[in-house]
Amino acid sequence: MKKRIAVTPGDGIGPEIVAEAVKVLGAVAEKFGHEFEMTTYLVGGAAYDAFGDCLPDESLAACKAADAILLGAVGGPKYDKLPGPQRPEKRALLTLRKELGLFANLRPAKVWSALKNASPLKAEIIDEGLDLLVVRELTGGVYFGKHERAADGQSALDLMPYSVQEIERIARVAFDAARVRGKHVTSVDKANVLETSRLWRETVTRLQAAEYPDVALDHMYVDNAAMQLVRAPKHFDVLLTENMFGDILSDEASQITGSIGMLASASLRSDGFGMYEPIHGSAPDIAEQDIANPVATILSAAMMLKYSFGLDAEAAAIERAVGKMLDEGLATRDLGGELKCSQVGGLVIERL
Ligand code: IPM
Ligand code: MG
Repeated sequence: MKKRIAVTPGDGIGPEIVAEAVKVLGAVAEKFGHEFEMTTYLVGGAAYDAFGDCLPDESLAACKAADAILLGAVGGPKYDKLPGPQRPEKRALLTLRKELGLFANLRPAKVWSALKNASPLKAEIIDEGLDLLVVRELTGGVYFGKHERAADGQSALDLMPYSVQEIERIARVAFDAARVRGKHVTSVDKANVLETSRLWRETVTRLQAAEYPDVALDHMYVDNAAMQLVRAPKHFDVLLTENMFGDILSDEASQITGSIGMLASASLRSDGFGMYEPIHGSAPDIAEQDIANPVATILSAAMMLKYSFGLDAEAAAIERAVGKMLDEGLATRDLGGELKCSQVGGLVIERL
């Protein structure tokens, strides 16, 4: 199989962690007889420094033309003073998500058996094999509603719009995912307060009755969901959320697994095109020290193989190799280990 991958390392630890994932993708291509043409493009603060724009036309066009995108992370304190629309988060990340129509964000959180002690939760709460999937709506809601500051600077507003069509298409992704997992969707909202949440709950309920009677559905207010994630995380199979609730709950879910450095994500369009990135940020405080954990990025590359290229066996091989490495007690500093970031790709490749 021949595929073109746009590689966008971004800022902070982005280049270091992406380099490890690129090594692994190269090894998989060789081992399984594929050709992955990987070309690097600047996005985020790195692109701002070079071109005065966090998302240069060339980078956007290349991302659009590629078969998939591998992203590191964008942003950093150096760019915090830029006006909102020019900041790396908005101009690079959110624009890529929106322009490419990547409405479905999949964020799997599982506790690896080797890392049970890394979880801050008691062993009896996480038990063996905690495994949940956050399905986060990614191109709607308050992230993309109107943002405004009053002329006198004394008030501001951010609007949170949602349409039935946007809710239905992300709910379908969650129900379809649940069908091949534990057949249970928990839809998260704040229907006791927000009108968009009431529309969300009605729409999800209607869709489940009409098309997914085989999948169990429950509804949970977002505050309760935040609590249940640490009180009884095994309640969850698939968590379906709007954009901002999913942002918050996926960070929380990541900590249950021991380190935010372990969580991968896929941001998908309905035709399978996707952008793949770790859920963590650019961590400027540990950049260029070779101590970041590239596993989330390597697992994001595995998700690319599975979701965009249909290479399930190759994706599973990467996940097994990562599991093996962890089982041998090999881990980066965030997990109490001593591995350097730059060693991880090679160790995973040896175990492929
Ligand atoms: C994430 C990040 C982004 C988000 C930021 C960097 C804009 O936190 O992917 O979870 O809020 O979506
Ligand atoms: Mg986030």
